[in-house]
Amino acid sequence: MQLLQNKTALVTGAGSGIGRSIARAYARNGAKVVIADIDETGGNDTVEMIRQEKGTAFFVKTDVSRPADNERMVAAAVEQFGALHIACNNAGIVGELARVGKYPIESWDRVIAINLSGAFYGMRYQLPALQQSGGGAIVNIASVLGQAGGDGLSAYTAAKHGLVGLTKSAALEYAQRNIRINAVGPGYIDTPMLHQNLPAEQHPIIRQMHPIGRLGRPEEVAELVLWLSSEKASFVTGAYYSIDGGFLAR
Ligand SMILES: NC(=O)c1ccc[n+]([C@@H]2O[C@H](COP(=O)([O-])OP(=O)(O)OC[C@H]3O[C@@H](n4cnc5c(N)ncnc54)[C@H](O)[C@@H]3O)[C@@H](O)[C@H]2O)c1
Repeated sequence: MQLLQNKTALVTGAGSGIGRSIARAYARNGAKVVIADIDETGGNDTVEMIRQEKGTAFFVKTDVSRPADNERMVAAAVEQFGALHIACNNAGIVGELARVGKYPIESWDRVIAINLSGAFYGMRYQLPALQQSGGGAIVNIASVLGQAGGDGLSAYTAAKHGLVGLTKSAALEYAQRNIRINAVGPGYIDTPMLHQNLPAEQHPIIRQMHPIGRLGRPEEVAELVLWLSSEKASFVTGAYYSIDGGFLAR
């Protein structure tokens, strides 16, 4: 029996990086997976990878900053697979790098809309669907910057701290409704996001911030998310799990 046999799952931002690894891990462990992303090419590539591994997946174009897109994404999952049991709210952006006193207002609004409101809109529609299917699990992808400050990254840091708080409140509300809700906080992970936002000369400095001495891999994050999404984590809810090579232990 596979870990997620007979389960259906949804992953936002699954067209790249960490979200893609999570979606593939879900599918390899027996779940049917909805790939939600604003990027059609990336999303369809993930579907193709899963199908090549004999898994089941389909793509729904979704901008998580739009409530109606989230409603459609969940409805598509239920329509296609008959129920929804697992959701991972992973879509995110970094936004501009600037001091608070100079931070571009538009970037602030966009980062909050995607990284924080996007997860709220997601859960707003996922939770009724999970209840309908008898329960399940949600994992929200926060960051080490959901626990610590980040120079030049106020919007991102505020959104990720907010996401941790949102996760805890929702976990309390649904703890007796058979739905577990947790947050995962990766350190710096080797994904397109990192390469787009961090010049190569800064990589050694970033590596040093992790006592393990390297960046994380998306597959390593996916392992933790898979466990939290499964019945193996049946007594875990409202928690923040760091996966950061020791970053927060300093
Ligand atoms: N890479 C890291 O170092 C790191 C560290 C900590 C946390 N995280 C978090 O992990 C998550 C995934 O990051 P990643 O590194 O895989 O990034 P990535 O850029 O490789 O992938 C992010 C995905 O989200 C999608 N996306 C962006 N805006 C969207 C929107 N409005 N609606 C739907 N999809 C949208 C992108 O198209 C992309 O496919 C993010 O929430 C990020 O904040 C990443």
